[in-house]
Amino acid sequence: MAKARTIHVCSECGAQHPRWLGRCSTCGAWESLVEESTGAEPAPTADLLAVEPSAAVGKAVPLREVDASGAPRLATGIDEVDRVLGGGLVPGSVVLLGGEPGIGKSTLCLQLAAALGGTGPVLYVTGEESLEQVRLRAERLGDVPGRLLALAETRVEALAEPWREIRPQLVLVDSIQTMRTAAVDSAPGSVAQVRDCAALLSATAKAHGAALLLVGHVTKEGSLAGPRVLEHLVDVVLTFEGDRGHPFRLLRAAKNRYGSTQEVGVFSMGERGLLAVPNPSELFLAERHAGSPGSCIVPIMEGTRPMLIEVQALVAPAGYGTARRTCIGIDDARVALLLAVLDRRSDVDVLSCDVYVNVTGGVRVAEPAADLAVALALASSRLDKPIPADAAACGEIGLGGEVRRVGRLDQRLREAARLGFGRVLLPAGADAKAPGAEPVPVTEIADAVRWLRDA
Ligand code: TYD
Ligand code: MG
Repeated sequence: MAKARTIHVCSECGAQHPRWLGRCSTCGAWESLVEESTGAEPAPTADLLAVEPSAAVGKAVPLREVDASGAPRLATGIDEVDRVLGGGLVPGSVVLLGGEPGIGKSTLCLQLAAALGGTGPVLYVTGEESLEQVRLRAERLGDVPGRLLALAETRVEALAEPWREIRPQLVLVDSIQTMRTAAVDSAPGSVAQVRDCAALLSATAKAHGAALLLVGHVTKEGSLAGPRVLEHLVDVVLTFEGDRGHPFRLLRAAKNRYGSTQEVGVFSMGERGLLAVPNPSELFLAERHAGSPGSCIVPIMEGTRPMLIEVQALVAPAGYGTARRTCIGIDDARVALLLAVLDRRSDVDVLSCDVYVNVTGGVRVAEPAADLAVALALASSRLDKPIPADAAACGEIGLGGEVRRVGRLDQRLREAARLGFGRVLLPAGADAKAPGAEPVPVTEIADAVRWLRDA
């Protein structure tokens, strides 16, 4: 029998280290290691098949005889959420909802709880707010159904009684980091607590056929705080993203055992909570000031949905010292690369200038498909020449200055045409078509700059 020992677990990435370190050697986080004791591990069995038959009661069945149509879904009634989940919540499944503080996780939970509280019992467990606070918020969001029951509790064991009594179809726990179990004696929020609480709750949900939604905080770096093991433990990982200064919010599935991870839900945070946004492009372009230099429209894809966003650039003469580079909503390194390519592969000189790039609406663009639009916005600002009001651009730019093809061009073109962008600069050779959109093929970044000068 191995003896019980202590290990040090990183609370950022879940890596285990035999002794304490100031910095986790796996993920590089500082002071993230916490001590944990591991129980005595059972002696490994030499051969799995040598185990007593009584201990092995599993029975294998032919896969093609398994009935897969049986997973019924609890439609939440909030279309944007149902879409991301793949049709609704699956009873007995565990969903983890992650997001930065203040982004709207509790609001989304309460809206879900209220929507499902109209069809059956729902238990909302809050470990962070008082019942009065939850009530006030619920009132702000609309009607509060009678079958939505709330409980302010942080002890997991204390959920057993209400759970047994209410027989909820959905249990929401806000947040998993505030929960603790008597089975572990480390502090709430520690790796061991979070993991064991989640495991206990999920086993209960599975045994009683309730859907379970756990709210989890994320760290500054955007990963779920607490152990990575939480992500393995749950069936669906949803992330709620956005910029707190803007109303726009995106709900994505980072993992989904019951559906696609390609769908996104788009919301806007308003006075009365989260509202679905059926046409995100219109939201982003509402405040656009067409005709000013340095602005370019690009059709990006969020999952399977195209949306038009505006990239703004400001190129100004640098003061003394090193030129400044400030990027909001787009990766700094990507912009640095595009500046270098623009400088070497076209006649626009930008390297000695201060450069500011902003993606409007609080959106974050990670797609290389936005390269051409960023480069054009930079050139437009530097040359002080506005991009025509009916033009958009889309394409990846390589280090040689070549404009490369990107996926789903037809869909992007259609979205551009729908909002009145009749001309779209595209990689030459891509045979994308959409009614009402005229492709302007470009081979190299220099072509695009030439087109802008002549426009
Ligand atoms: P919250 O759901 O508490 O965020 P989280 O649980 O992710 O920390 O949302 C907090 C923010 O949302 C807060 O700044 C106020 C804002 N908000 C609205 O703008 N409208 C609303 O109707 C509600 C309920 C909140
Ligand atoms: Mg909250």
